[in-house]
Amino acid sequence: MVSKVLDGKVALVTGAAQGIGEAIAMAIADRGARIVASDINVERGEAMLSSLRSRGVEAHFLRHDVSSEPDWIAVVAETMRLFGKVDVLVNNAGLIEVCHIDDMPVEQFDRVMNVNVRGVFLGCKHIWPAMKAAGGGSIINMSSVTGIIASSDGSAAYSTSKGAVRLLTKAVARDYIDRNIRVNSVHPGGIRTPTVEPFLADPDTAPAVIGRTPMKRIGLPGEVGAVVAFLASDESSYMTGSEVVVDGGWLAV
Ligand SMILES: NC(=O)c1ccc[n+]([C@@H]2O[C@H](COP(=O)([O-])OP(=O)(O)OC[C@H]3O[C@@H](n4cnc5c(N)ncnc54)[C@H](O)[C@@H]3O)[C@@H](O)[C@H]2O)c1
Repeated sequence: MVSKVLDGKVALVTGAAQGIGEAIAMAIADRGARIVASDINVERGEAMLSSLRSRGVEAHFLRHDVSSEPDWIAVVAETMRLFGKVDVLVNNAGLIEVCHIDDMPVEQFDRVMNVNVRGVFLGCKHIWPAMKAAGGGSIINMSSVTGIIASSDGSAAYSTSKGAVRLLTKAVARDYIDRNIRVNSVHPGGIRTPTVEPFLADPDTAPAVIGRTPMKRIGLPGEVGAVVAFLASDESSYMTGSEVVVDGGWLAV
């Protein structure tokens, strides 16, 4: 049983229909927050909402393309109508695409940047009135170890986008420093989610993923969720502009 450090808080989690985002929504809800889960995938989002509600959580699901500014305006407005404020924003939605730069169409690069960077920028921008209503808040942006190092072949677009999230986080932390809003980034290593599963099932790629992790295992989505819940709570009250690595020791060597 975890302590209810987020009692009374309202959290908006993007990309919450599956994987790490789903685990973040569960971890935050377990600690007492009310949840707005958003995602572009409505079918999976509705299924995830049912499991949140079955745990007795006050929660809603909204369709949301994070790369769309009109969608952000609508999602923040609807969250305000439902709950009157937002204390916690988790910019989790992201595209994981691997392609060697020689072969990468410029449209693919733009797509990754639009979701992974533009989406985070729009979230940090449009959440302000809702966090003002809460008297401040905590924003957590999902980066990656590949936002700190270029980890493997084919990560030009993904690493670029996650590196941008890392510095965008620090810039926004400074912009919001006088508004009682803390902004931190989280940098997972290899985490078992539906998108990563094919790489783990492939005998050519699985050994590389495990091999570069000193703990010699893949992380679980809940292990990222617990860290995000800590950053969401007042227990991390002196942290802003920080980059928090959750990687089984990957970057320690
Ligand atoms: N799984 C890992 O090993 C790993 C490692 C480091 C960082 N990350 C990051 O963690 C986050 C979640 O990763 P995951 O493995 O759970 O991915 P995932 O693909 O399993 O889930 C991502 C979710 O984001 C949603 N999404 C995609 N595009 C969207 C859009 N335009 N608007 C709204 N929602 C959209 C998808 O529908 C999906 O539900 C991503 O930002 C990813 O880059 C993952």
